[in-house]
Amino acid sequence: MHEGEALFLARCASCHALDSRENLGGPHLDGLIGRRVGSVEGFADSEALTGREETWNERRLRRFLFNPEAEFAGTSMPRISLTYAEYLHLAEYITNCTGGRDRPQCHRSSD
Ligand code: HEC
Repeated sequence: MHEGEALFLARCASCHALDSRENLGGPHLDGLIGRRVGSVEGFADSEALTGREETWNERRLRRFLFNPEAEFAGTSMPRISLTYAEYLHLAEYITNCTGGRDRPQCHRSSD
Protein backbone atom coordinates (compact mmCIF):
# COMPACT_ATOMS: atom_id res chain seq x y z
CA MET A 1 0.00 0.00 0.00
CA HIS A 2 1.32 3.47 -0.92
CA GLU A 3 2.13 5.39 2.25
CA GLY A 4 -0.23 8.11 1.03
CA GLU A 5 -3.08 5.62 0.81
CA ALA A 6 -2.67 4.58 4.43
CA LEU A 7 -2.63 8.24 5.45
CA PHE A 8 -5.70 8.97 3.37
CA LEU A 9 -7.65 6.13 4.94
CA ALA A 10 -6.61 7.12 8.45
CA ARG A 11 -6.93 10.90 8.24
CA CYS A 12 -9.16 11.88 5.32
CA ALA A 13 -11.57 9.09 4.41
CA SER A 14 -14.01 9.92 7.22
CA CYS A 15 -14.84 13.15 5.37
CA HIS A 16 -13.83 12.49 1.74
CA ALA A 17 -14.51 9.76 -0.79
CA LEU A 18 -11.75 9.27 -3.33
CA ASP A 19 -13.29 6.46 -5.34
CA SER A 20 -16.89 7.52 -5.62
CA ARG A 21 -18.88 10.69 -6.07
CA GLU A 22 -20.42 10.51 -2.66
CA ASN A 23 -20.13 13.66 -0.55
CA LEU A 24 -19.53 13.00 3.14
CA GLY A 25 -18.54 15.72 5.62
CA GLY A 26 -16.44 17.15 2.79
CA PRO A 27 -16.78 17.05 -1.02
CA HIS A 28 -15.72 13.90 -2.91
CA LEU A 29 -12.22 14.11 -4.41
CA ASP A 30 -12.89 12.09 -7.55
CA GLY A 31 -11.22 13.89 -10.49
CA LEU A 32 -9.78 16.53 -8.18
CA ILE A 33 -6.62 17.39 -10.13
CA GLY A 34 -7.51 19.81 -12.92
CA ARG A 35 -10.90 20.76 -11.58
CA ARG A 36 -11.81 24.17 -10.17
CA VAL A 37 -11.54 24.67 -6.42
CA GLY A 38 -14.87 24.26 -4.62
CA SER A 39 -16.78 23.07 -7.68
CA VAL A 40 -18.24 19.71 -6.61
CA GLU A 41 -21.91 19.54 -7.44
CA GLY A 42 -24.20 18.90 -4.53
CA PHE A 43 -21.72 20.01 -1.90
CA ALA A 44 -22.21 23.37 -0.20
CA ASP A 45 -18.69 24.79 -0.01
CA SER A 46 -17.83 27.60 2.36
CA GLU A 47 -17.53 31.12 0.93
CA ALA A 48 -13.77 30.63 1.04
CA LEU A 49 -13.94 28.09 -1.81
CA THR A 50 -17.03 29.22 -3.70
CA GLY A 51 -16.65 30.92 -7.08
CA ARG A 52 -12.87 30.61 -7.29
CA GLU A 53 -10.93 30.56 -10.54
CA GLU A 54 -8.03 28.39 -9.33
CA THR A 55 -7.81 24.73 -10.26
CA TRP A 56 -6.27 21.98 -8.17
CA ASN A 57 -2.79 20.75 -8.95
CA GLU A 58 -0.38 18.81 -6.80
CA ARG A 59 1.43 21.89 -5.55
CA ARG A 60 -1.73 23.69 -4.48
CA LEU A 61 -3.02 20.53 -2.84
CA ARG A 62 0.18 20.16 -0.84
CA ARG A 63 0.02 23.78 0.32
CA PHE A 64 -3.67 23.46 1.18
CA LEU A 65 -3.13 20.33 3.26
CA PHE A 66 -0.15 21.85 5.02
CA ASN A 67 -2.20 24.90 5.98
CA PRO A 68 -5.77 25.16 4.63
CA GLU A 69 -6.37 28.55 6.19
CA ALA A 70 -3.25 30.09 4.60
CA GLU A 71 -4.25 28.86 1.14
CA PHE A 72 -7.95 29.79 1.32
CA ALA A 73 -8.73 31.97 4.30
CA GLY A 74 -11.98 31.05 6.01
CA THR A 75 -12.18 27.47 4.68
CA SER A 76 -13.99 24.93 6.81
CA MET A 77 -11.44 22.25 5.93
CA PRO A 78 -9.60 21.51 9.17
CA ARG A 79 -5.80 21.44 9.35
CA ILE A 80 -4.71 17.81 9.63
CA SER A 81 -1.42 17.67 11.47
CA LEU A 82 1.16 15.48 9.70
CA THR A 83 4.89 15.48 9.17
CA TYR A 84 6.23 17.27 6.09
CA ALA A 85 7.09 13.93 4.46
CA GLU A 86 3.54 12.71 5.08
CA TYR A 87 2.05 15.77 3.33
CA LEU A 88 4.22 14.98 0.32
CA HIS A 89 3.17 11.30 0.24
CA LEU A 90 -0.47 12.20 0.63
CA ALA A 91 -0.48 14.87 -2.09
CA GLU A 92 1.35 12.50 -4.44
CA TYR A 93 -1.07 9.68 -3.78
CA ILE A 94 -4.16 11.84 -4.27
CA THR A 95 -2.69 13.36 -7.41
CA ASN A 96 -2.01 9.93 -8.87
CA CYS A 97 -5.50 8.75 -8.01
CA THR A 98 -7.50 11.70 -9.23
CA GLY A 99 -6.31 12.30 -12.76
CA GLY A 100 -3.18 14.31 -12.14
CA ARG A 101 -0.65 11.96 -13.66
CA ASP A 102 -0.36 9.27 -16.30
CA ARG A 103 0.45 6.51 -13.89
CA PRO A 104 -2.56 5.72 -11.76
CA GLN A 105 -1.60 3.80 -8.66
CA CYS A 106 -4.91 3.27 -7.03
CA HIS A 107 -7.85 1.00 -7.57
CA ARG A 108 -11.21 2.57 -7.94
CA SER A 109 -14.53 0.96 -7.27
CA SER A 110 -15.57 1.61 -10.87
CA ASP A 111 -12.61 -0.36 -12.29
C1 HEC B 1 -13.66 16.59 9.54
C2 HEC B 1 -13.84 16.49 8.11
C3 HEC B 1 -12.65 16.62 7.19
C4 HEC B 1 -11.46 15.92 7.24
C5 HEC B 1 -11.01 14.90 8.26
C6 HEC B 1 -10.74 16.31 6.04
N1 HEC B 1 -11.45 17.22 5.32
FE1 HEC B 1 -10.95 17.99 3.49
N2 HEC B 1 -12.62 19.18 3.52
C7 HEC B 1 -13.58 19.17 4.52
C8 HEC B 1 -14.56 20.19 4.24
C9 HEC B 1 -15.79 20.52 5.08
C10 HEC B 1 -14.18 20.79 3.01
C11 HEC B 1 -14.86 21.96 2.29
C12 HEC B 1 -14.14 23.21 2.74
C13 HEC B 1 -14.81 24.52 2.41
O1 HEC B 1 -15.89 24.54 1.80
O2 HEC B 1 -14.22 25.56 2.80
C14 HEC B 1 -12.95 20.12 2.59
C15 HEC B 1 -12.27 20.41 1.43
C16 HEC B 1 -11.20 19.68 0.94
C17 HEC B 1 -10.61 19.86 -0.36
C18 HEC B 1 -11.07 20.82 -1.45
C19 HEC B 1 -12.04 20.09 -2.36
C20 HEC B 1 -12.55 20.89 -3.54
O3 HEC B 1 -13.37 20.32 -4.28
O4 HEC B 1 -12.17 22.03 -3.74
C21 HEC B 1 -9.58 18.95 -0.44
C22 HEC B 1 -8.64 18.75 -1.61
C23 HEC B 1 -9.55 18.24 0.81
N3 HEC B 1 -10.54 18.70 1.63
C24 HEC B 1 -8.64 17.23 1.11
C25 HEC B 1 -8.55 16.58 2.35
C26 HEC B 1 -7.51 15.62 2.69
C27 HEC B 1 -6.44 15.13 1.75
C28 HEC B 1 -7.73 15.25 3.99
C29 HEC B 1 -6.89 14.33 4.87
C30 HEC B 1 -5.57 14.85 5.20
C31 HEC B 1 -8.92 15.95 4.45
N4 HEC B 1 -9.37 16.76 3.43
C32 HEC B 1 -9.50 15.79 5.69
C33 HEC B 1 -13.62 18.33 5.62
C34 HEC B 1 -12.62 17.45 5.99
